[in-house]
Amino acid sequence: MRDDELSAELLAWYDIHARELPWRVGPAARKAGERPDPYRVWLSEVMLQQTTVAAVKDYFHRFTTLWPDVGALAAAEDARVMGEWAGLGYYARARNLLKCARAVAADHGGRFPDSRAALLALPGIGPYTAAAIAAIAFDRPETVVDGNVERVMSRLFAVETPLPTAKPDLTALAARLTPPERPGDHAQAVMDLGATICTPRNPACGICPWRAPCLARAEGIAAALPRKLPK
Ligand code: ADE
Repeated sequence: MRDDELSAELLAWYDIHARELPWRVGPAARKAGERPDPYRVWLSEVMLQQTTVAAVKDYFHRFTTLWPDVGALAAAEDARVMGEWAGLGYYARARNLLKCARAVAADHGGRFPDSRAALLALPGIGPYTAAAIAAIAFDRPETVVDGNVERVMSRLFAVETPLPTAKPDLTALAARLTPPERPGDHAQAVMDLGATICTPRNPACGICPWRAPCLARAEGIAAALPRKLPK
């Protein structure tokens, strides 16, 4: 299957099965081409680093109720924000969150920049988060690679090289599949596939939109991938 056919199959699946998450727009709005608010995308991506979707939901709701936009968060007191963050862990994230909000308010007129490079220059935004915001909020053709994406790619292409050695190859495969149209939905579709079907254990290959082209499934080794070097 060609790369563009692979992403088309995945997007067709996503149109039906996308998870409804508080930082996404609903199915009708997505169909109309509406993008999610960059502030909400940024906040969710920072919260989701090292924390599960289930644990993040309540915090996300609380933060966006208290501080509905980046200007409001930038004006918040440090102690208040740190207090609301309590329980999410990795407190450096919360300190960087405030630094970043204040930089966006002070240097960018309260609007998140729309390119990966400009996002990367902000405090606390690394390569993963910059690519995620550029793709999801601004529909830039950036490739978003996390552990889920690595697992999905390793299986689809039956990459037997262990992690972390395989990382550059898996990133290149993920980039190859990123379509010029709807790159943001594509990125979220790969995430959803990794979270709901192409799971670490007992992947649900029978209902996977990529069951036909998946090389690991054909070889009967999906659950064994990605291989990992002993630590
Ligand atoms: N994990 C990291 N970013 C995510 C997102 N935007 N949607 C769902 N899961 C995620």
